[in-house]
Amino acid sequence: PQDLDRLIAKSVRDVPDFPEPGVVFKDITPLLADSEVFGAVVAAVADHHRGATVDHVVGLEARGFIFAAPIALALGAAFVPVRKSGKLPSDTLSATYDLEYGTATVEMHTDAIAPGGRVLIVDDVLATGGTGRAAVDLVRRAGGTVVGFSVLMELAFLQGREKLADVELHALSVV
Ligand code: PRP
Ligand code: MG
Repeated sequence: PQDLDRLIAKSVRDVPDFPEPGVVFKDITPLLADSEVFGAVVAAVADHHRGATVDHVVGLEARGFIFAAPIALALGAAFVPVRKSGKLPSDTLSATYDLEYGTATVEMHTDAIAPGGRVLIVDDVLATGGTGRAAVDLVRRAGGTVVGFSVLMELAFLQGREKLADVELHALSVV
């Protein structure tokens, strides 16, 4: 909705030159501090997927966790964490993706998704799409069906959407 888009734009703070010169960081902490906007974001994502029968909501460490957990509760679905490597204690599947310099690896427990489970993936920001691509691949390798991928904010100029052309991508706001 137009209204929510405006509220998100107002409550996400642009921080220039963080974490390095030339990057404008999207700081979600003002949004999280406003329970009305935070609640509206959670409700909007949950409402968007309510008809879809979501069994699992996968959250991407760290900022994705903040949104994915309340969305899972709102949908009556299981919360599943995708974590940075070395954090999950049991057997894991892992996926590696490219960063500007080097690579990053994320992991999910091998038994996190029920066979044929219907999965919604949630993160805060879609930038280059590397994190999201890795998460989609993990869920599929675990035997899940990705029924949606929701983000608070899509940075369209980085064209992350192109890496996720095979997924129903839902962004509450696009900048
Ligand atoms: C940020 C953001 C997304 C990801 C988007 O996470 O929270 O998860 O980058 O970028 P991409 O589309 O180019 O992959 P980050 O890895 O900085 O870690 P954090 O969530 O733990 O802060
Ligand atoms: Mg993140």
